[in-house]
Amino acid sequence: MARGNVLDQIHWLHDHQFPHKFRLIYCDPPFYSKRDYGAFSDQWSSLETYLEEMRRWIEAFYPWVDDHGFFVLHCDYHASHYLKVMADRIFGYDNFRNEWIWHYSGRRQPASLRVNSKHDVLLVWAKSSEARFTPVFEAWDRDRYITMKRQKVHRDEDGREWIWGHQGKGKSHAYRIYLDEHIERGRAIDTVWDIPIINTSAKERVGYPTQKPVALLNRVIELTTQPGDWVADFAAGSGTTGVAAGELGRACWLGDVNGEAIESMLQRLSVSE
Ligand SMILES: C[S@@+](CC[C@H](N)C(=O)[O-])C[C@H]1O[C@@H](n2cnc3c(N)ncnc32)[C@H](O)[C@@H]1O
Repeated sequence: MARGNVLDQIHWLHDHQFPHKFRLIYCDPPFYSKRDYGAFSDQWSSLETYLEEMRRWIEAFYPWVDDHGFFVLHCDYHASHYLKVMADRIFGYDNFRNEWIWHYSGRRQPASLRVNSKHDVLLVWAKSSEARFTPVFEAWDRDRYITMKRQKVHRDEDGREWIWGHQGKGKSHAYRIYLDEHIERGRAIDTVWDIPIINTSAKERVGYPTQKPVALLNRVIELTTQPGDWVADFAAGSGTTGVAAGELGRACWLGDVNGEAIESMLQRLSVSE
């Protein structure tokens, strides 16, 4: 765990010839929200100053993402449009893979200036065309599956339910899709993720502002890495990335410039600095 600003942490990696590159660098930086969160401030003299700082971070990360790895930049409407263009210039437009939307519920108010904004944006670049995600599935039930397929359900001699599936164009080949197999596997995820924010009484809440849910980081890490891979988060706040990486058996570099963040990571991960 490293106490220090992002650029100093990266210098440390260079100076000490850190032997691993990262399969995933996840970055959840200040969003240019113009707010002071107490533990850290997201107030900048101008948008240009903010973007210049983010450019330095992303350029510093680039060489540390391994050739099959990913860079995931968590941001929101305040600056996501600028950050996407900027990071395209560093990672390459063709290496941009996905925009994942983390959609969360919460109190909604009738408003005339802006509709309730209840999502963050995770922008994802691969280091090269070789990088591959690991498919992730979400729970899926029989009734929703049948409603989506809009097909008559048949039963075989053992009572197992199935529907017709078709493969190929033109003279397509028909085959049986057994419902239990599909339901057990789950449904492949898409780019919009409904994951609740951490509510005030949740066990995982440590009180650090802008703390992200472990479920969100679990999904990011499962998609982009394999057990044993290295993950990094150089502005890790309360250390959510480290908790998820630990649960999933990934090795993890965590750092932050802020003492309160380091304290909260140390407690949460029960490790020493
Ligand atoms: C949005 S928070 C991260 C929250 C974290 N993902 C979590 O779940 O707790 C952004 C973090 O960036 C850190 N930060 C801001 N500027 C930094 C810098 N120059 N170097 C390192 N960390 C920085 C802040 O201290 C803050 O903890």
